[in-house]
Amino acid sequence: MFVVAGVSGHTGSVVAETLLSQRKPVRVVVRDAARGEAWKARGAEVAVASLTDAEAFGRAIEGAEGVYVLLPPFGFADEDPSRERPAQIAGITGALRKGRPAHVVVLSSIGAQHPAGTGPIAALHALEREVAATGVPATFLRAAYFMENWGASLAGAIEGGALYNALIADKKISQVATRDIGTTAARLLVEPVRSGTRVVELSGPVDYSLDDTAAALSAVVGKPIAAVQVPIEGLKGALKGMGASAAVADLYGEMTDAINRDHVSFEGGAALRVRGATTLETVLRSLLGR
Ligand SMILES: NC(=O)c1ccc[n+]([C@@H]2O[C@H](COP(=O)([O-])OP(=O)(O)OC[C@H]3O[C@@H](n4cnc5c(N)ncnc54)[C@H](OP(=O)(O)O)[C@@H]3O)[C@@H](O)[C@H]2O)c1
Repeated sequence: MFVVAGVSGHTGSVVAETLLSQRKPVRVVVRDAARGEAWKARGAEVAVASLTDAEAFGRAIEGAEGVYVLLPPFGFADEDPSRERPAQIAGITGALRKGRPAHVVVLSSIGAQHPAGTGPIAALHALEREVAATGVPATFLRAAYFMENWGASLAGAIEGGALYNALIADKKISQVATRDIGTTAARLLVEPVRSGTRVVELSGPVDYSLDDTAAALSAVVGKPIAAVQVPIEGLKGALKGMGASAAVADLYGEMTDAINRDHVSFEGGAALRVRGATTLETVLRSLLGR
């Protein structure tokens, strides 16, 4: 049995869909039973549990061949986005100790090798460390910057003819489609490690700068769109204008600065480097429904 958490989200949905298409036995974990109905209709078992509930999540993963898990995202307006992290990490690791699955694939991030200075990614460093300490064989799937992150900026960029971001305009950064994360995670689940941990670093087919992203968007919508690099403080101000709390804006500011300084980058070394096939243009088209 393969157990998939976060199944109503970007990556978990693709993991479950991919495994079901391969006729693998799948149990999805949802917090709200109603969200499991569509998966039940597709042949999955459904377990109702929060990742913060080690008892319930532990029962859901008991004896599983593989588990897919992620750290739930924080709210954009959350004044204290780190508050839930200890309970979430304790819930996941408590469940792994209780359920002892044969293998777990953890959605992590580029830059998670560093304990600090990476904004929201630092929580994934802590998650990796704590999962490794459970002794459950684990794959840490360190995904690049999600291509879908651009979704929030597209309407304004198309309307105003400019894509604003604090990323260095001509610096190519690793980006990946969430579909490629889901299909890669499904493959890693059926090709498990039997002991210890492995790190898999995943990006898209090529790297893209802010300039490249604006050019791809121009090509999709058929009008010129300029890339405009703003200071980190400008990014934080814009995020707050969109409803982010000061703490969330600070986290994204720190992460963007860390990407610009290569503090958020792939670790290399023993990590397995994988590239997905989905291009940024494909994701932009899909985000815009074109
Ligand atoms: N954005 C990036 O560039 C980037 C890069 C690398 C890694 N990441 C990681 O990717 C993660 C998000 O992955 P995603 O986009 O696939 O997720 P997503 O679309 O944001 O969905 C989150 C999922 O988690 C579930 N969830 C939330 N709280 C839960 C809880 N307490 N117990 C059980 N399930 C819970 C949600 O289910 P409900 O239906 O119950 O709400 C939903 O299915 C981030 O948290 C981050 O760690 C992001």
